[in-house]
Amino acid sequence: MSERKYTVAVVGASGAVGARMIKMLEASSLPIKAVRLLASSRSAGNVLKYKNQDITVEETTEESFAGVDIALFSAGGSVSAKYAPHAVKAGAVVVDNTSHFRMNENVPLVVPEVNAAALKEHKGIIACPNCSTIQMMIALEPIRQAFGIERIIVSTYQAVSGAGARAIAETENQLREVLNDGVNPKDLVAEILPSAGDVRHYPIAFNALPQIDVFTDNDYTYEEMKMTNETKKIMSDEAIKVTATCVRIPVLSAHSESIYIETKEAAEIAAIKEVIKNFPGAVLEDNPAMQTYPQAVNAVGKKETFIGRIRKDLDVPNGVHMWVVSDNLLKGAAWNSVQIAETLHELDLVRKTETLVF
Ligand SMILES: NC(=O)c1ccc[n+]([C@@H]2O[C@H](COP(=O)([O-])OP(=O)(O)OC[C@H]3O[C@@H](n4cnc5c(N)ncnc54)[C@H](OP(=O)(O)O)[C@@H]3O)[C@@H](O)[C@H]2O)c1
Repeated sequence: MSERKYTVAVVGASGAVGARMIKMLEASSLPIKAVRLLASSRSAGNVLKYKNQDITVEETTEESFAGVDIALFSAGGSVSAKYAPHAVKAGAVVVDNTSHFRMNENVPLVVPEVNAAALKEHKGIIACPNCSTIQMMIALEPIRQAFGIERIIVSTYQAVSGAGARAIAETENQLREVLNDGVNPKDLVAEILPSAGDVRHYPIAFNALPQIDVFTDNDYTYEEMKMTNETKKIMSDEAIKVTATCVRIPVLSAHSESIYIETKEAAEIAAIKEVIKNFPGAVLEDNPAMQTYPQAVNAVGKKETFIGRIRKDLDVPNGVHMWVVSDNLLKGAAWNSVQIAETLHELDLVRKTETLVF
């Protein structure tokens, strides 16, 4: 392993994910020489803490990346599209949290417990999958390795923090309006959710919105298509059948997922529990007799993915159901990114890209 110490930049440091990235870096095994915090001109000049040091947030520009070894991007797809190539040109390795580069054939899409080997092919940019995909991969990869997976049908119950700091504020304000001021949820005025970029907005307080991100031409949303396409790429299996319904609920942090799979080989539930228990990053929480199962409130602040309610489908021979919960801001974003950086270091892959493809 390299003895180098790194300068790490966080782009989007003032955001919901950026704040967690700073926390994850503070606790990281990565040898860090210096941390640079970048955002837009709106936050430039604000002071944030890293290990009790005051660090002034800088505006992101094309010149921001001189001397940076690792750049963690979490400031939206257009910011990654514009600045990530400049970071690579300056000699940094980029770990990008946005969807912009995920399906690019030159970009490994990585959940370290599942496909760390893909990092070896990196050409300067590595993509962190969508939050809802990451936790599903942690739950399903041990089952895929042991028994194969034919198809996946997933329904998500996603936290509002997945839509950023403004969505958290909108939810909290709406809950206050209903509970403190007696406003009927139907009369709440929404400006962000279900998707900040869309035409119509609906209240999230006391509601469930079956739309995350905007709709695509096939009537699935982008979030649903991310789960489908990213699963095939991460598992290197174009034939695996995946369909998703993504729903936003008024929970602040931690996504929950009801996942149905059909395995290729018959598998006893006890054997499925055993492989999950032994998989890194996965925690089995499954004891119906004690009413033990994963819950969003318990997952907040944890790096692991929690899996329970594992049971056989009563009609389909190889059908299995489960409930999967993880902190979308940690394993779903900040921790997976920092973990990728740690893995790059362990594999001695933090290096300048000589032949530029971006
Ligand atoms: N939240 C999640 O669970 C999650 C999970 C996986 C991936 N992601 C992805 O991560 C990204 C950030 O999400 P978030 O939830 O942290 O959003 P957020 O809370 O809205 O934060 C956005 C961040 O981006 C910065 N930013 C905006 N425009 C910029 C620009 N032109 N140049 C530089 N920085 C700019 C903002 O800085 P200012 O303070 O200056 O505005 C802020 O730091 C998104 O692409 C999102 O899809 C989020």
